[in-house]
Amino acid sequence: MTAAHGGSPFIRPPTRQPTVLTFTPSQMDFDHPPTDPIAAARAWIDEALQLPIPNPNTMYVASVGADSRPSLRAVLLRSFDADGAVFFTNHQSRKGRELAAQRHAALLMHWDHLDRQLRIEGPVEATDDAVNDEYFRERPRANQLGAWASEQSQELADRGAFNARYELFDRQFAGVDVPRPPHWGGFQVRPASIEFWQGHPARLHDRIVYRRGGNGWAVTRLYP
Ligand SMILES: Cc1cc2nc3c(=O)[nH]c(=O)nc-3n(C[C@H](O)[C@H](O)[C@H](O)COP(=O)(O)O)c2cc1C
Repeated sequence: MTAAHGGSPFIRPPTRQPTVLTFTPSQMDFDHPPTDPIAAARAWIDEALQLPIPNPNTMYVASVGADSRPSLRAVLLRSFDADGAVFFTNHQSRKGRELAAQRHAALLMHWDHLDRQLRIEGPVEATDDAVNDEYFRERPRANQLGAWASEQSQELADRGAFNARYELFDRQFAGVDVPRPPHWGGFQVRPASIEFWQGHPARLHDRIVYRRGGNGWAVTRLYP
C-alpha cells in the first residue's frame, strides 16, 4: 500500500456536507418488512429517480465467464416490475455472450444520497423482439446508429475506425428509420432474491433479503 493521505495508506475522502434533497425519503420498517419486495424495490427506484444526480438508474451487472470468473459493468435500468429488471445491450458483447451461456446475473444499485443499496439476483432471459423494437424506436437516431457502429467489447484499432463505421451506417440508413440491429436488445433478470440495505450512523445498518420460494417470498434479516 502506498501512503497517500496525510501519511495513511488508506483512502479517506474529505467529509462533505450532505446534499439537501427536494423530497423526504420514505422509511422502510425493517422490523415489519413489506410483504411485496417487488413493490418495495420499485418504490426505492422511483425515489432514486428524483435525486439530483445523473443516471440514478445506473445498475451494475455481474456475469460469469466460461472460466468461472466474474465480470461486472454499469448499465442503465430501463424497466422494473414483477417480471424483472430490464437493461439493453449488444448481445454479442462480453456480457451478452456470458449471460447467454450462464443465464444468471447479479445486479446492484447504490444511491449514496439515500444511503441505500439494492441487490437483485436471478435467472436471465433475453427480452422479446417486440420489446426490443419498441425501446429501440424511442432512441435518438444518433444512439441508434451508435448501436450499429459499436462492435461492443471487440478490439478497436483507433477512434477513426469507429467514426468511419458510424458514418457508414449513417449513409446506409439515410432517409429511412434506422432498423434495430439483430444483435441489440434487452436482458431481463427475474428476481430470485432481492436485498434492501439502508445505511445508519456507526455502521448500524439495516439489511433484509427476500428469497423467492414455492409459497412466495421468504424474508430474512441479516447482520449488515
Ligand atoms: C453510467 C453507465 C451506463 C451504461 N449503460 C449501458 C447500457 O445500458 N448498456 C450497455 O450495453 N452498456 C452500458 N454502459 C457501458 C458498459 O458499462 C460497458 O462498458 C459495456 O456495455 C461493455 O461491457 P462488456 O464488455 O462487459 O459487455 C454504461 C456505462 C456507464 C458508465
